Amino acid sequence: MGLLKKLLTRKPSFGKKDKAESGSPGSAEAQSSQILGEEIPISPPSNFQRDVHISFDPERSSSDHGYVGIPEEWKQLLESSGFHGEQTPQDTEILRRGIELLTVNRSKKKGKLADYLIEADPTILFGSLERLDEGACATVYKGVYLPTRQVCAIKIVKANTSETSLLNEIGTLSACKHENIVEYMGAYLHEGQLWLAMEYLEGGKLTDLVYKIAFKEHQIAYIMREILSSLVYIHSENLVHRDIKSDNCLVAADGRVKLADFGFCVDTIQRKRTTIIGTPFWMAPEVIKGQDYDSAADIWSLGVMAIELADGDPPLITIPPLRALYEIVKLPPPSVKDPTKWSDTFLSFLSCCLKKEPTDRMTANQLLNHEFITMACSSEFMETLVEWKAENFAN
Ligand SMILES: Nc1ncnc2c1ncn2[C@@H]1O[C@H](COP(=O)(O)OP(=O)(O)O)[C@@H](O)[C@H]1O
Ligand SMILES: [Mg+2]
Repeated sequence: MGLLKKLLTRKPSFGKKDKAESGSPGSAEAQSSQILGEEIPISPPSNFQRDVHISFDPERSSSDHGYVGIPEEWKQLLESSGFHGEQTPQDTEILRRGIELLTVNRSKKKGKLADYLIEADPTILFGSLERLDEGACATVYKGVYLPTRQVCAIKIVKANTSETSLLNEIGTLSACKHENIVEYMGAYLHEGQLWLAMEYLEGGKLTDLVYKIAFKEHQIAYIMREILSSLVYIHSENLVHRDIKSDNCLVAADGRVKLADFGFCVDTIQRKRTTIIGTPFWMAPEVIKGQDYDSAADIWSLGVMAIELADGDPPLITIPPLRALYEIVKLPPPSVKDPTKWSDTFLSFLSCCLKKEPTDRMTANQLLNHEFITMACSSEFMETLVEWKAENFAN
């Protein structure tokens, strides 16, 4: 039950209180703020669970799980999803995979972690540690690298994190050099815990801003351009991130947006992937179905993130994760809650990302050339937003 409980619990995040106090954009009670001379509506209150991480071992997918004799945990998951009696869906295969996604852990090892480790005591090298945030796999601190006094972020990974995930993250981050990817500084082992040092991004995760303001189209276009640039780079290296969402996009003091959290990133050079990893609401249909998938899965998640920026939350966030997985496969592609509020150009961009058939989706390169991206505002807006957040909200 431990893993399931973790899966279904959203960690309290920055500004939870402020968020609950905010009004709905466009509503009579909506609050607003002036940023760069623009009236910015404060985001609607929402406090849905988002931090649901999924792991799956493909070798276990062949086991024949039916409805008879399923574990108690599975029954509870079905019931909490409203799937019982006449409500039980017809497509048991998707349901079975959904349950596995939410309950089965993945533990495959490859390569050697020791090859990446710096042999030094991080408690002597890093000082002034200050807790920033907690993700599904790690607690992240702001700290100072004492030999150079450089401010940095230190991700201390939870003891139960799989070695594969650690290798994915360190191996990918140390190899990727791009202005839209968080910069890696080094990895250390201390009393069985992995310390991952990287550049500190003052603006924190994009989710904090999603909770606080309602983004306009040219601001969404700016964020999309930033993350698409990182995707063009990683996809050209035959890597798939597999966990694109606002929680994994960090904002720098100069307004740059950078992709982080490469714990689930994989190399696809040999073959397409069937391992299932990601976070339900942002997950592509082919990933849920356990089909081979490639970089197009990141494009679907990016489309969901664009909706998240526009509406404040991804589609289906109000329904339990298992039911959401089922609906992602069964429903037509999602879009923004109220399409009449948005331009055809933005709706077209969303639809180019959110095709059910992966081969119908545009690539990161094609999307960078979509008309919507030409609408992007300058980095100044995001820079001001980071200052506004620092002045108004304590971390
Ligand atoms: N380099 C960084 N600078 C500032 N904040 C960071 C940095 N890295 C991570 N964080 C914060 O910590 C959170 C969790 O980090 P993440 O790498 O996503 O961990 P997990 O693998 O546990 O999800 C992020 O959502 C963000 O709020
Ligand atoms: Mg994360």
